Amino acid sequence: MGLLELQGVTKEYRRGGHVFNAVDCANLSVEPGDFISIIGRSGSGKSTLLNMSAGLMKPTRGAVFFDGKDIYQLGDREISWFRNEKIGYVPQGQSLLSNFTVLENVCIPWFLFKREGDAEGRAFILLEKVGVGRLAASYPRELSGGEMRRAAIARSLMNNPPLLIADEPTSDLDVETTAEIMNLLSAIAREGTAVLIVTHELDTLSYGNKTYAMDAGNLAPHAA
Ligand SMILES: Nc1ncnc2c1ncn2[C@@H]1O[C@H](COP(=O)(O)OP(=O)(O)O)[C@@H](O)[C@H]1O
Ligand SMILES: [Mg+2]
Repeated sequence: MGLLELQGVTKEYRRGGHVFNAVDCANLSVEPGDFISIIGRSGSGKSTLLNMSAGLMKPTRGAVFFDGKDIYQLGDREISWFRNEKIGYVPQGQSLLSNFTVLENVCIPWFLFKREGDAEGRAFILLEKVGVGRLAASYPRELSGGEMRRAAIARSLMNNPPLLIADEPTSDLDVETTAEIMNLLSAIAREGTAVLIVTHELDTLSYGNKTYAMDAGNLAPHAA
């Protein structure tokens, strides 16, 4: 069994008396070091799938296994701990807290559960690694879209998670910055952290990744 394993994962939504499967019986296996991209049109269920994979949303049917454990069988506190410890999550759009510096933002996952050690030192190393160390003392509003995305990636790595999940980490970025972020994510995968992202088809080319396509809730391998 993989690091992350989705088995028949389905999410049913109700809208105006109508029920539909935003995600319909999805199966996916993610191994350490994998770099997996999911593409698909807006509304096809990609964010819903990532949220269920990250322990943020319980599926209507099916199961999500992490290290062989069914995560939705965990209690509230256990699942919060699991998310904080095992999953680096980069949400869609701007997700840094505006009243905190970039460095403080990166430290947040560290302090959600009490931890020993030099948080700021580690946060600074991560900011350097993603190329924005010089912005540690800045506030999010002083950063460009690409710089904010880098800082959010640094924050997602703060607790050294085995899996990084990112929802459209390259949306609204220019071609060059998109390539830089994709290279950064692919380097993170090569270092052993599994990476699962939603992105656009063109952005997935030439990063040695596996691609899946989502279409009206159906997830399938995508032939390049
Ligand atoms: N809480 C909700 N209640 C009802 N429908 C929802 C809810 N969240 C999302 N949807 C619908 O589910 C479908 C999939 O949404 P989403 O996973 O956000 O797609 P994507 O990320 O691919 O754009 C869309 O049709 C969306 O409108
Ligand atoms: Mg989405």
